[in-house]
Amino acid sequence: MKLNIRNKIYKIQKADFLILGVYENKELVDVPEDIQKIILYYKTEEKFKGTCEEMIYFTLPAEVGFREVLLLGLGKEKELSSEKIRKILGKGMKRVKEYNANSIDLLIFENSQVCLKRMIKAMVEGILLSNYQFTKYKGEKKKKGLEEVNLVYHGEDRLEDAKEALEEGIVLAESTILARDLVNEPANVLHPMELAKEATRIGKESGFEVEILEKDVIHSLGMKAFLEVARGSSNQPKVIVMRYFGKPENKEEILGLVGKGLTYDSGGYSIKSNEGMVTMKADMGGAASVIGTMSAIAKRKLSLNVIAVIASCENMISGDSYKPGDIIGSMAGKTIEVLSTDAEGRLTLADAVYYTVTKEKATEIIDIATLTGAVLGALGTTTTGVVTNNQEFYKQLEVASIVSGEKVWQLPSFEEYKKLIVSDIADLKNIGGKYAGSITAGLFIGEFVENKPWMHLDIAGTSWSDGESEYISKGGTGVTVRTLYYLAKIKSCKTRN
Ligand code: BES
Ligand code: ZN
Ligand code: ZN
Repeated sequence: MKLNIRNKIYKIQKADFLILGVYENKELVDVPEDIQKIILYYKTEEKFKGTCEEMIYFTLPAEVGFREVLLLGLGKEKELSSEKIRKILGKGMKRVKEYNANSIDLLIFENSQVCLKRMIKAMVEGILLSNYQFTKYKGEKKKKGLEEVNLVYHGEDRLEDAKEALEEGIVLAESTILARDLVNEPANVLHPMELAKEATRIGKESGFEVEILEKDVIHSLGMKAFLEVARGSSNQPKVIVMRYFGKPENKEEILGLVGKGLTYDSGGYSIKSNEGMVTMKADMGGAASVIGTMSAIAKRKLSLNVIAVIASCENMISGDSYKPGDIIGSMAGKTIEVLSTDAEGRLTLADAVYYTVTKEKATEIIDIATLTGAVLGALGTTTTGVVTNNQEFYKQLEVASIVSGEKVWQLPSFEEYKKLIVSDIADLKNIGGKYAGSITAGLFIGEFVENKPWMHLDIAGTSWSDGESEYISKGGTGVTVRTLYYLAKIKSCKTRN
C-alpha cells in the first residue's frame, strides 16, 4: 500500500473513497460545502453524532462528483489521543475494505491536543497496522485490497513536517510488521539459523552491522547456561550480535538491547502441555522486537549507539538435554540449580546480558522477553511488566510508552524477592517458588548485568494476540518495537548537541 501526503482536497476526485473525521463538538472546516451539508443533516437528525469510534457511510449524488464517503467519529476534541486515533483509523480501514476501496483520500484530523506530527504518525500506524495479515501459507491469497491512501493536509506552512512524520510513521509500522512476521513464522521454518539469516538480511537493508557467533565461539566465551538450554536440540544455537553506531564519537555510551530468542520452547523435560506448547513458536518475541527496533533506529539514522544481542536456540528433549536437578555454570561464573527446564529463558538471557555488558561494553541494558506466564496473571494481555534497578531509566521508558501507546507497568523488586532465587546448593536457582513469578524471573536476569542500569520487559502477555482488535491481528503483535524506538529517540535527542 502506498501512502502519500497531498495538500489540496481537489485530489479527492481521483480517489474512490473519502474519509473524514468528525468531532462531537466541533464543525469541520476545509470540506466542500455539499459534504458539510450532509454532515449537518446527519447531526441534526441524530443519525451520526461524531462520538468516538462511531462510523457512517454514504454515497454522494453524481452532481457532487460521485464518490463514497466514510465519516469517523472522533469524540470530543479535548479527549482525542494518539491511541484513540490508531484505533479509530484501524476500525475505519477495515470498514472501507469491505467496500473494496482501491484508493482513499483521508483528511488529516486537526486537534489542539495532538500535534500535527503525532497525528500523522498515529494515523499512519492505524492504517498500516490494521491492514496487516499473515497470509504466507494460505493457498488462497488475500484480495488485491487498498492500493493508495492520500493524507490530505490543508495548511502550507508545515508540509515538510507532515512529510517527515509520514516517513517516520511508515518506518515504525513497517518495523512492527517485520517483528510480527518473525513471530508468526512457524518454528519448523524459523529455527536459530534462519533467525540469524533474517537478522543479517534486515541489517543489510536497514543499515546496521550483524555478526553471528557459532557454537564453538559461544563455547569459548563460556556461555554455559545458554548452551545447557540449547543442548537438547539438533538445531545449533546462534548468538546474533547487531551493532549500530549512530554516534561513533561517543562510544562510552552504548544502549544494549537483549531479546529472548527461543525459536521453540517445548519446556524440555519439565514439558509443557499441548495447549501450552502450541504458541511456543512465539517464544522469540523479544528477539523479533529487538530486530524490528534496530531496523527502525537505523532507518531513521538516530544519533546514538545501540548493540542488540539475541542468544537463540530451541528448548527440546533428547538424551542429551539438561534436566531438572542439574547444576549448571554461566558466563558470569555463577552456578545455577535448575529446578525447571521450562524456566529456560532466564538462563539464556543471563549469559546474553552478561555478554552484552562485558564484551560489547553496553552501558545501559534492556532485556525483552516472553518470560513468564505469571505476567499474564498479573497484568493481562494489554500491559508489559517491567522490572528495573534504575528509576531514571524507567522514567524514560514510561515517556516512550506514552508516545507509542504500548502500555508498561513497573513490578516491585524489593530485597525479599531476591532471596527467593538463592539456592541451597548453588549460587542461584532458576525458579523462585509459587508466587511473584514474573518478579523473581526478572530479578534472576538482573543478577547478571554487573550493576549497570537495567530494565527487563516481560512481553509474554503482550507480544501475542489470540484475537483481532482495531489495529492488532491474531498472532504476533510486534509489541515494544515502537516504544524502544522512542526510547532510543529520547536518548538520541539528549546526546545531540
Ligand atoms: N516461554 C515461557 C513463558 C510464556 C508463557 C510465554 C506463556 C508466553 C506465554 C517460559 O519459558 C516459561 O515456560 N515459563 C514458565 C516458568 C515457570 C516454570 C517458573 C512459566 O511461566 O510457566
Ligand atoms: Zn519455558
Ligand atoms: Zn520460554
